[in-house]
Amino acid sequence: MCGIVGYIGGQNAAPILLEGLTRLEYRGYDSAGIAVLGAKNAQVHRVVGRVRNLAAALPKRLTGKVGIGHTRWATHGPASEANAHPHTSEDGRICVVHNGIIDNADALRAQLADAGVTLASETDTEVLAHLIARSGADTLEDAVVEAVSRITGTYAIAVTDTAHPDRLVIARNGSPLIIGVGEREMFVASDLAALVRHTSQVAHLDDGEFATVFATGYRTFTVDESDTTKPATEIDIAAEDLDLGGYPHYMAKEIQEQPESVERIIRGRLDDRFGVARLDGLNLTPRELRGFSRVKILGCGSAYYAGQVGATMIEELARIPADAEAASEFRYRNPIIEADTLYIAVSQSGETIDTAFAVEEIKRKGGRVVGLVNVVGSTIARACDGGVYLHAGPEIAVASTKALTNMAIGFALIALALGRVRDLSNADGQRIIDALRAMPGQIKSILDEGPRIAEHAKEFATANSLFFVGRVRGYPVAREGAQKFKEISYRHAEAYQTSELKHGPLALIDAALPTVAIVPADELTDRNLAAVQQIKARGGAVLAVTHEDVDFGELDVPRIVVPKTEPELDPILLTIPLQLLAYHAALSLGYDIDKPRNLAKSVTVE
Ligand code: F6R
Repeated sequence: MCGIVGYIGGQNAAPILLEGLTRLEYRGYDSAGIAVLGAKNAQVHRVVGRVRNLAAALPKRLTGKVGIGHTRWATHGPASEANAHPHTSEDGRICVVHNGIIDNADALRAQLADAGVTLASETDTEVLAHLIARSGADTLEDAVVEAVSRITGTYAIAVTDTAHPDRLVIARNGSPLIIGVGEREMFVASDLAALVRHTSQVAHLDDGEFATVFATGYRTFTVDESDTTKPATEIDIAAEDLDLGGYPHYMAKEIQEQPESVERIIRGRLDDRFGVARLDGLNLTPRELRGFSRVKILGCGSAYYAGQVGATMIEELARIPADAEAASEFRYRNPIIEADTLYIAVSQSGETIDTAFAVEEIKRKGGRVVGLVNVVGSTIARACDGGVYLHAGPEIAVASTKALTNMAIGFALIALALGRVRDLSNADGQRIIDALRAMPGQIKSILDEGPRIAEHAKEFATANSLFFVGRVRGYPVAREGAQKFKEISYRHAEAYQTSELKHGPLALIDAALPTVAIVPADELTDRNLAAVQQIKARGGAVLAVTHEDVDFGELDVPRIVVPKTEPELDPILLTIPLQLLAYHAALSLGYDIDKPRNLAKSVTVE
C-alpha cells in the first residue's frame, strides 16, 4: 500500500526520491508524486499510474536538495492527479505525504471549508497541509504536533516547509516510518526497501513519535516535545536481495530461494542433544512454556492459513489445544483473553494493521503474545513480548511464498519447544529435527519438477472455476493453494474440506470444474481416494498432490508427487507445488504476476 520517501542532503533530491519510490512499487499503488524544495518554492509533480510515468513527466532541470515522495493507494477519493500526494497548503508553503487513514477527515474538511479554505482534493491527507500551515505555532515542529493532535486515525507523515528548507518533520502513529542515516545526508522511508541502496544505518520511529531530520542528523521527540533518544541500528538486508537476480519475476525468485531460506530459519535453532528447538527470542522460560494450556494464532490471509498449519502441528506435537483465527475478525468480537493462553501473531510484513490491532487488543487485556514475523524491527515484531524471526529474506512479490514456508517451519519450532516441556519424547523431537534438516533438499527436488507442474498449470488456467480440497492437515494446504491461484490468475478457486464435498459442493462438479486434491500418504489416504473417485465419477478432472506410496489403483489421475516427510510436517512440502501451479497458471494467462490487481503487499489500512 502507500509508500513514503524523503531526502535531505547534498545531492539532487528528485532522482533519489524516484529511485526510492520505484523500490516501493511492489507494495501496490495507483498514483505517485514528489515535492522538491527549490530556491523559493516547492515544486510538486504528481501523476496517475506508475513511477516511470512520474519520471517522464518531470521537468529536465528539477533541482533541489530536499524533497518528499509518495506512492498512493486510493482510500479517500479515486486515483487522480489531484488526489495524489504530496498535498500542499493554499500558499504552497507546506507539503505533506501521508500513509494511513485520518478517521475524522470529513469533519476537519468541513471546518476548513467553513474557515474559507479551498480544498483541492478529496483526500483525508490534504487537511494536514492546511492545519499545519494555519497553525500559529512558532516552529514547524510545533505546527505538526498541533495538527496531528487534531486528527484521529493512523498516520506516517513527512512534511516540508519552504520557510524551513533545512529540515523534514516526520511523525508516526500506526504506520511505519524509518530514518536512514547517511554521510551528511538523511533519508526517510516507510519501508526499508527504499533505503538499502543508500545506507544500512536506520532508526525506526515508534507510535506517537516525531522527528526533525536535518542533513547532518535528526532529533526524535514526543508530543510534549521531550526528546526520545533513538540511536540508529545496522540492518541485515543487502541491496542485491531486492533485485530480480536474473529471474523473470520476484515470485519465481522467491519460490526458488526456499531451500536457502529454510536453511536460514532453522540455522542455530535445532538442539540435537535434547531434541528441541532453541528459541531464545520467545523470552519464555521452560516453566512459562509449561504453564500455557492453550495456543491461539492470529494472522491474515495466507498467514492465517499458515497459522492453521501451525495449530495442527502444535496440537499434534505438544498436545495443547490450538487454533488459528483471522486477525481481521478477532478484535471485533471482544475476545476473551486468557492468562494461560499463548497468543502467536504471524505476519510476513509485520505491518498488517489487522494483525497489529489484534496484538494491541491482547496486550491491552494483559495477554502474552509472541510474534512469528519476517521483517525485523517491524511494528508487530516490536509490539510483541518476544518472537521468532522468519529470516526468509525480503519478499517483494505480492503473493507470499517463501515467508509462508518459513512460517510453517517457525510453528514446527514452537511446537517442539512447547512439546518438549510436556510429553513429546526426546526421540520424537529428534525425529522432527531430522525431518526439518532434510527439508531444503526435499524442497529442491520439488522445484526441479517445475516444468511438469507448468504443464498442469496451463491446463488448469483455462478453467473459470476450480476446487482445491484437502482434509485435516491437508485442508490449510488446499486453502493456501486456492488463495495463491485466485490472487494471481484471477480464476475463481475455492477450498473445501474433502469430507465436506458430499454435503453440497459436489453438485457443482462437472467437466468444466477441475479439482486439485491433496492426497498425502497418511491415516486419511483411503478416504481422500474415495472422494477423488466420487469427483471422477461425476466427470470432474482431478490433479492430485500426493506421495509416492499412495496407490491410486484404477484411478486415472495425473499426480504431482512430493517427498514424504514426518506426517506433522507434510503440509509444508505439499504446499510448494501449489505455489508453482499458481505461478505458471498466471504466467500462461499473461498476468502481472508480482503485482496482481487490487492487492497490496502489506495491508496497512483496515
Ligand atoms: C497472499 C498474501 C496475503 C498475506 C496477508 C498477510 O499471498 O500474501 O494473504 O498473507 O495479507 O500479510 P502479512 O503476512 O504481511 O501479515
